Amino acid sequence: MSRLVAAAKLLCGGGLPWLRAARDGLAAVRLAVGAAGLSTGVLECLRDGPADTASVRAQLGLDDAGLLEPWLRVLQAHGLVRASAGGWSLSRRGRRLLDDAVLRGAYEGFAGFHTGLYRELPSQLRGGPPRRDVAERGETIAQLTRAMEPVLHEVLGTAVREVRPARVLDVGCGAGQNLAAMLAAAPAAEGTGIEVDEAVADIAERLLARRGLRGRTRVLRGDVLALAAGGEAGGPYDLALLANVVYYLPLAERVRLFRAVAGLLSEGGALLVTTTAATPDPFSRHFDLLLRAQGEGMELPEVEPLRQQLAEAGLRPAPARRLVPGQPLVAVLARR
Ligand SMILES: C[S@@+](CC[C@H](N)C(=O)[O-])C[C@H]1O[C@@H](n2cnc3c(N)ncnc32)[C@H](O)[C@@H]1O
Repeated sequence: MSRLVAAAKLLCGGGLPWLRAARDGLAAVRLAVGAAGLSTGVLECLRDGPADTASVRAQLGLDDAGLLEPWLRVLQAHGLVRASAGGWSLSRRGRRLLDDAVLRGAYEGFAGFHTGLYRELPSQLRGGPPRRDVAERGETIAQLTRAMEPVLHEVLGTAVREVRPARVLDVGCGAGQNLAAMLAAAPAAEGTGIEVDEAVADIAERLLARRGLRGRTRVLRGDVLALAAGGEAGGPYDLALLANVVYYLPLAERVRLFRAVAGLLSEGGALLVTTTAATPDPFSRHFDLLLRAQGEGMELPEVEPLRQQLAEAGLRPAPARRLVPGQPLVAVLARR
């Protein structure tokens, strides 16, 4: 049967919705295979060289009921491992998945909590406990958020050129890539990151060191509100950044956050806020639900109320800029 005839038969059978469901289903399987390649430890096991099935079984201490060999064949079929005379080995794609922290974060995040939200939604809707993703998956979230680095690059560069900062602050700095980008655009400036999650602060310090910025940066560990109130946040800063952070605080606490950061700014300094905004876009709606499911009062901001809150905190917000046409990502620069 030719491919064309087979496709026509499939179309007649279930039509386009079926084909779409099958395509999406296979993509979901591909995602789950990559994530399980990491979580079962099989890819890691092949990091230093080829190993046969028995050796993989022994290294991982598996009590294998005949599944390991078929599992390795699944990884092979998805191009993550190869089979040769020496046993199983990592393909280029498999090694990239192991070594690229952002890619790894994407597989772990999307196969994990991003889709787990819906698997567990029935029980949560019936009064089950809130999710713990933000509390327990900080490192994955920080790595996954790094995927936005190219998108933020331009707006960070523009803000640096406009403000010409000698000192920059990145609040909720995550993996530190935005602080690094601001300092790359302002080669004479010094930078401070503030990060409440200890493990994430470690990631930021490592990234800043890898980019040769250890001497120009420091990462303060703690809640920005507490550090600012205690006078430990340093400053004054000419440019402060809140990238993908505002939604970690309930709506009612955001003016307090903006006031605290505004208090760390020099006269004429600026705060740049970037965030996914609450819009009818499918990703925005999904992300908003994921935040609300944490049960901590988290939710995505709407653009104009966000600007009003910045004004309430004593700042002068410029009009919001969309970072990618058609996407719900926005940036607002607010001057002190
Ligand atoms: C989604 S991540 C974004 C990280 C980074 N800004 C980026 O865009 O890649 C949000 C980060 O803000 C940190 N954070 C949230 N609330 C904070 C607070 N009150 N003080 C300091 N850090 C905070 C979290 O621990 C988390 O690492």
